[in-house]
Amino acid sequence: MSRTWWKWVIYAGSIAALIVSASFTIYCAWKVYAYHQPGEGAAAEAEKNAFHFVLVPEELDNDYWRLVEQGAKAAAKETGVYLEYAGPRQANIDEHIHILEKAAASKVDGIMTQGLTEKEFTPVINHIVEKNIPVVTIDTDAPTSKRTAYIGTDNYYAGFIAGRALAEDMHGKANVAIITGSFTASNQQLRVQGFKDAVKEEKGIHIVAVEESHITRVQAAEKAYNILKKHPEVNAFYGTSALDAIGIAKVVEQFHREKGTYIIGFDTLPETIRYLQKGTIHATVVQEPYEMGYRAVKMMVDIRKGNNVPSVINTETKVIRKQDLPLRPSRNYEVNHD
Ligand code: BGC
Repeated sequence: MSRTWWKWVIYAGSIAALIVSASFTIYCAWKVYAYHQPGEGAAAEAEKNAFHFVLVPEELDNDYWRLVEQGAKAAAKETGVYLEYAGPRQANIDEHIHILEKAAASKVDGIMTQGLTEKEFTPVINHIVEKNIPVVTIDTDAPTSKRTAYIGTDNYYAGFIAGRALAEDMHGKANVAIITGSFTASNQQLRVQGFKDAVKEEKGIHIVAVEESHITRVQAAEKAYNILKKHPEVNAFYGTSALDAIGIAKVVEQFHREKGTYIIGFDTLPETIRYLQKGTIHATVVQEPYEMGYRAVKMMVDIRKGNNVPSVINTETKVIRKQDLPLRPSRNYEVNHD
């Protein structure tokens, strides 16, 4: 008798586990689908809210963009906005543009995105604005487009202060390799240009190599590896997108060259902070991703209400070193993965 009873308990338990795991799979599948389809399936949610905005990042699961999303979501909650976060899983301009077009076709009330390249993004942004959907550029501007406003770092200035910091910390003498997120994205170009201008009068500073990481830490590491093999004289690196310095630091440690190699990067993601604390990364350029997201949503609400907004808002940027830690407030660098 007691055996039969146990059998039933095991049967019931297995069925319950099956139902839970099936529901979880369906839920996850729905989430992935929803992220990729701006507008679709969101209509009912959007109806409950005053406005429906879409934030389209360069790369969905990039921690830097998760911080922008966190800020945007906080502002959306305060203002009763329905916010969608949809973008390419891995940086890809064609997919990025396709998602923008889909968002526009589903007649949302506002779109926030980067103006990564004037050539590709300006026509799309203009097309969206002509459909009476306002666009706010965020992180990277497309200044000649019809976007209403830009909110984000002054990327040229940010590159310039990185160059000055390196020159100061290396006492005017260094063989530098630059690893940039992308040769074509204008924020990356400006960060490289600003840096070059900042060191051009320094006779002892030589830029030996400039390579591209496609904003991935793996490719940043690969490029750093090849550079150190080919140019052993390199004793300073500058990484211009959020994951570059992390990839560089990994390789510098592999080569046991932490003592003689200076690294300056961008952003304050948790891994960057850890390398700063350890001393492998020496300095990094702070951006305010949370603030960008937060203020972009607030600004979009103002635009929809017919209020005037400034055409450019530059969020704060500065160079920090180990002695400047911990950073406060923490919302610009504490990524929430739930
Ligand atoms: C840039 C973003 C870029 C990210 C990539 C940041 O520094 O501001 O434009 O998408 O790095 O990791």
